[in-house]
Amino acid sequence: MQNKVYLGRLRKNSVTRGLVAQTTILAKDLIMPCFVVEGRNKREPITTMPGIFRFSIDNLADEVEELSGLGVKAVLLFGVTGKKDNFGSQAYAKNGIVQRAIREIKKNIKDIAVISDVCLCGYIAHGHCRIIKNAFSDVDETLKALAKIAVAHAEAGADLVAPSAMSDGQVGVIRQALDKNGFRDTGILAYSAKYASSFYGPFRDALGSSPKFGDRKNYQMDFRNRNEALREIEADINQGADIVMVKPASLYLDIIYRAKQKFNITLAAYSVSAEYSLIKLGAAEGLFSEKEAVLETLTAIRRAGADLIITYHAKQAAEWLKDI
Ligand code: PBG
Repeated sequence: MQNKVYLGRLRKNSVTRGLVAQTTILAKDLIMPCFVVEGRNKREPITTMPGIFRFSIDNLADEVEELSGLGVKAVLLFGVTGKKDNFGSQAYAKNGIVQRAIREIKKNIKDIAVISDVCLCGYIAHGHCRIIKNAFSDVDETLKALAKIAVAHAEAGADLVAPSAMSDGQVGVIRQALDKNGFRDTGILAYSAKYASSFYGPFRDALGSSPKFGDRKNYQMDFRNRNEALREIEADINQGADIVMVKPASLYLDIIYRAKQKFNITLAAYSVSAEYSLIKLGAAEGLFSEKEAVLETLTAIRRAGADLIITYHAKQAAEWLKDI
């Protein structure tokens, strides 16, 4: 007679569960997004993202030092500015907020990578990720501006630049500009498969980057689609991306899975602002333990195939992971 299949045996205690666990997360797999503002000694709370702050450069440097102490190996910087125009010129100004923040971090902290978001939406008056002329996007001017931003960040010392504008050709143009200006060692983390998502709402509050008209559906991806996600990733790899990204993360595990199966490249997933805030609010309402919910979510994103996870929970998770 055959034995009954009995699958509970290895679940009986945490030791045997740990022994056979297939998915792990380490602090070094997490990337913390950080918002940086003008001023001194600022730590402005963001109402829709409890626990996340806009830091002035001095305080950001302290925060990054703490993250580094927790074993986090990278931060992703976003600049917040009041000085917006129709070209996003503050984004590539020599003394732009992100450029100064990168210099400050690089001056003091050695064992953390600085990644900088390369986009126009936070710097352009209308809040779109592109330059608009006569009601149409100006593709050439947008690509030129993105290349200038990437070079400005590289000059300041960014380890990787992260183009997030969803402009076709952005990775290639940035790669060429970096090489031409002597930054062959600056990498590109491409926001390759970036969907037009409701889950970016809190981030836009943090940055003041909501589009003043229309939406981003004519450049970010349609969430009904999967094939083009793979084509976007392939295009970015061909243009020189060093790391590719799927964004958002939790609702897009199928895309992460497919991307990991298909491409032999480091894959990042961005667990975006509302993914963070929903867990925070749910935990505050007593729906679940924040720690358990976060670790389950991050593990699921890794299980689907992400090598790196960009998450606003990076700092807290790194603390929790110390005891696991
Ligand atoms: C766009 C950009 C977005 C995010 C980062 N860079 C999305 C958007 O505003 O369309 C979202 C990140 C998040 O929600 O955490 N340049």
